[in-house]
Amino acid sequence: MIRLIRDRSTDIKRTRLLTFHFDGQPVQAHEGETVAVALLRAGQLTTRTAPNDQAPRGLFCCMGLCQECVVVIDGRVTEACRRIVTDGLVVEPTNGAP
Ligand code: FES
Repeated sequence: MIRLIRDRSTDIKRTRLLTFHFDGQPVQAHEGETVAVALLRAGQLTTRTAPNDQAPRGLFCCMGLCQECVVVIDGRVTEACRRIVTDGLVVEPTNGAP
């Protein structure tokens, strides 16, 4: 089943920078960006490792379908491509967790 998602491109405010942390490292994002886009702009192509062989995984569909970008935010496994960055957000890679 395909989920239709709202176009959030006009929500991005490039005049305001936010900082969040991924795997303990600070990452800057524009207000309104998704975690996935901010990580991609920062050069972070790997968002997790695969549970079976620890292979690096990253963005694929960028619309919440493939689950390749899942990260842990506030203790919950979340799609990085669907979560909007907030200032001070703490994001961790799933690193092998199913
Ligand atoms: S890249 Fe496919 S769900 Fe996020």
